[in-house]
Amino acid sequence: MNPDQIPVHVAVIMDGNGRWAKSRGLPRIRGHQVGVERVEEIIQSAPALGIKYLTLYAFSKENWRRPKDEVSFLMELLGKYLDQKLEEMKRQNVVFNTIGHLDDLPAPIREKIVRNKQETRQNTGLVVTFAFSYSARVEITDACRVLAEKAAQGEIRPADITEATLARHLYTANLPDPDLLIRTSGEMRISNFLLWQISYTELYVTEKYWPDFTREELVKAIQSYQTRERRFGRTTASGQENA
Ligand code: FPP
Repeated sequence: MNPDQIPVHVAVIMDGNGRWAKSRGLPRIRGHQVGVERVEEIIQSAPALGIKYLTLYAFSKENWRRPKDEVSFLMELLGKYLDQKLEEMKRQNVVFNTIGHLDDLPAPIREKIVRNKQETRQNTGLVVTFAFSYSARVEITDACRVLAEKAAQGEIRPADITEATLARHLYTANLPDPDLLIRTSGEMRISNFLLWQISYTELYVTEKYWPDFTREELVKAIQSYQTRERRFGRTTASGQENA
């Protein structure tokens, strides 16, 4: 790996927990349990690889429509995770951050999230952002609402709204755009994740299910990233327009 070309911000769509479990004849929830172990492994591995920001799609707005038992299990798992990993995150100098509608989550989970954020606020290492009850379309709609309200109050002129203004009103206002987006389990879609922020992000899709996405798989994703020539819509060396 080239240490000078590490993606600063890596975002991950963690997919395939259910299929991983099914392929082993196990209940779906077992896939989520092992998925949490991979979350831990990736958080532990990221800083030494040079990654500064890691954003993980843990629960979408759409995920609420899953069977009630599975949603309850995921919430329980999340609660345990927040309790068990707090000390470790503090030790690892990790900043715990979230995006999404926390108000949708059960109050005890919300309180744990607020606590973990508060207690890791002063850390200076890896920023781990979990997307909980997240939808990119809702995020953009929320930003539009705030801007419309500001315009109605005369605080901002519509003509002065730029891309930067909108970006500052997204949940990710304090994060750089992702350099690399990883999706596990082979699906070639974005599933309403960070739609605005990934305009120029490199995509990496692996057939591996999330419970099989180890540190080694992360290294492979970074190696693939390092073979890309990022142009951000500029002209190529040969002078042709290219995205
Ligand atoms: C996708 O697998 C995964 C999710 C909907 C949840 C992601 C959650 C975790 C990795 C564990 C929870 C994280 C924390 C921090 C507690 P899927 O169920 O959609 O798999 P499938 O597409 O094969 O059915």
